[in-house]
Amino acid sequence: MTEGTPGHRMTYGGYLQLDELLALQNGPEGYSPAPCNDEQHFIIVHQAFELWFKLILRELKEAHVLLNQEHVPEEKLPKMVHHLERVTEIFRLLSNQWKVMETLAPQDFLAFRDKLGTSSGFESWQMRELEVLLGLENSQRMGGMDPLEHMRKMANEGKVSASVLSDFEATSSQPSLRESLSAWLARTPINGSLADSSKDSEIVEAFVDDHLEAMREHGEQVIAHIVAIGHGEEAPVRGRIEAATVQAADFLRPEGVVSRSRAGLLFIESYRDLPLLAWPRKLIDSFVALEQSMLLFRSAHARMVERMIGRRMGTGGSSGVDYLDATTKYRVFVDLWAVRTLLVKQDNLPPVDDSTFYGFAAND
Ligand code: HEM
Repeated sequence: MTEGTPGHRMTYGGYLQLDELLALQNGPEGYSPAPCNDEQHFIIVHQAFELWFKLILRELKEAHVLLNQEHVPEEKLPKMVHHLERVTEIFRLLSNQWKVMETLAPQDFLAFRDKLGTSSGFESWQMRELEVLLGLENSQRMGGMDPLEHMRKMANEGKVSASVLSDFEATSSQPSLRESLSAWLARTPINGSLADSSKDSEIVEAFVDDHLEAMREHGEQVIAHIVAIGHGEEAPVRGRIEAATVQAADFLRPEGVVSRSRAGLLFIESYRDLPLLAWPRKLIDSFVALEQSMLLFRSAHARMVERMIGRRMGTGGSSGVDYLDATTKYRVFVDLWAVRTLLVKQDNLPPVDDSTFYGFAAND
């Protein structure tokens, strides 16, 4: 009976292709001996993760299509936030999913670990693809690993299929979400000025100078307060506070030239109560929440692995827990994290110019 004919009825098992799905937990063709209960649990947990990775990739790709445009319509921001929030929730769920893995006793894992050979989560191409799609830079990776090169090597060794490689190449050849986000931030109206307007660079330079001045003033207040309450000598405290302002200036003017993307980000974060900035800041918050949940997921994996194999090396040949702990230092959205150090309390901020442009006048 085919779809659309009178006797056709969609069934639960048919819709979910359960017969096919539930026949996949016994290891590859000819795998012997058949997985014991503990090993089947190990397989199912991995498969469940990979299914969630599949959905994460889909969500991120949908968000990417919306963000990677020369003009991102404002009304698309809620949809992007929606995709990112779903990914964050999935990572939260996955962080807890390691708990199921931990019900495997270390010695019971050793009973079948040798059967895995050199196979390892390190070869999870979906995990690599999502890192590339997000925009993790190779320079941050342990040993500067190049995932595209690694994927080509795996394809050569027959460890991944040609179609996986071509999907991976397609993702690698596009701007990452981090890059698309940065391009979008660079178009933020700053103090009412649009990026392509003739006076823009003057206005943006002034915004950056005013902000740095606000940081200096705020810094002086902090120094005076710390000294007044006897929490430190002025000289060392001043040294640290002033160094932070120098770093802020370098951040906003890398190599001496204003980064409009970072200035836009700072503007949104500083004047986050302006109605027009409500969705932009929600989008930024969603990226931060996503990365935070991913880091917690990485960290929970490392703790599970430490409990399971101690300090042994991984089946993929890495140092094991030390390697996994090093991955918790990765930051994709470097600017979104860094800008937090530059923020000053609202009372110290210069008033925004042209506040009607952003939805309401400052003194209304
Ligand atoms: C007993 C359970 C597990 C142990 C002992 C374990 C151990 C390890 C170790 C030691 C590594 C580092 C690479 C290596 O040398 O192999 C690694 C990487 C990885 N594992 Fe696991 N793992 C376990 C379960 C899982 C599960 C259920 C998943 C879900 C898919 C997973 C996903 C990954 C991923 C994606 C990586 C690569 C991380 C990166 O390079 O950033 N692992 N695992």
